Amino acid sequence: MSALLESIDAGFTLPPEWYSDPAIFEAEQRRILWRSWHFVTTTDRLAEVGDRFVWEIAGLPVTLVRAGDGDGAIVAADPGGAQVHVWGPMVWVNPAPDALTFAEWTAGADGGESLEERMRRIGCDVDAYVPITERVWDIPANWKVFQDNTIECYHCPTTHPEFSRAIVQDPERQILGIGGPTWVHHTLPFRDDDRRAYHFSWVFPTTYVQFTGRGFDVGSVSVLGVDRLRHRHIGFGSPSDTPERIAAAQAWLDRDPTIDQDVEICRLVQRALDSGVAPIGRLLAGREHLLTHLYRRIVEMMEA
Ligand SMILES: [Fe+2]
Repeated sequence: MSALLESIDAGFTLPPEWYSDPAIFEAEQRRILWRSWHFVTTTDRLAEVGDRFVWEIAGLPVTLVRAGDGDGAIVAADPGGAQVHVWGPMVWVNPAPDALTFAEWTAGADGGESLEERMRRIGCDVDAYVPITERVWDIPANWKVFQDNTIECYHCPTTHPEFSRAIVQDPERQILGIGGPTWVHHTLPFRDDDRRAYHFSWVFPTTYVQFTGRGFDVGSVSVLGVDRLRHRHIGFGSPSDTPERIAAAQAWLDRDPTIDQDVEICRLVQRALDSGVAPIGRLLAGREHLLTHLYRRIVEMMEA
């Protein structure tokens, strides 16, 4: 086993240069980002035969098209052979033809439930929903800074006062689980009704899916460079939602300060990492094991 995996298993983070070195980022593009599954768009953007959707995955151009023959599937015109998976209203892409399928990527650990099975069990039928809201943030940070920040909530009580007024912040009542090799999940109860929970799943390396009882949300990171990313958050609701309800949901998302607070944390963390003075991080044993799980995934893919 490599010295880096030993360090991660001993409870350390990735070394700071993994967040700022352009050469490491280039290797990540080839070995991780272009061989992983990413949420790219929604099916309504490719509704008609011949519709095209142009995107980039970590600098790699991607063109999706609604094919005119056979079953009218959404396929990748570029890069040829890229894998496409439609899950309800979501379109996911893995640029590598020989990489794992979406079902393999989101399978459960040790024969446990898959991500799709989990979403159904907690009451989210993604097929029932359509995109209704969207907001975008540019964040001057490495994609792993975003990932580190989003899959633990120990910063929530201090950073997210509005979120923390709604969600129980006692670590003893928060369930953090490893779903499978490339996804992890959180279940955090609501304060006002502990039968309700905020369900969050992170699908390595760039996408979250969250559910709180009605509709669902997807957040996806477009990796623009070693220290730049664009974060999109798309809210899904019922096809029968009225224009007034949709406008209210968009206004709420536009005002919600939570992600702005994360943008500021990510900016500050990246600045510390870029400065070269930030030491390697030490994780809380048994509390930040989801980060360790994904660091292992990163190193394994880089060393494969
Ligand atoms: Fe946060």
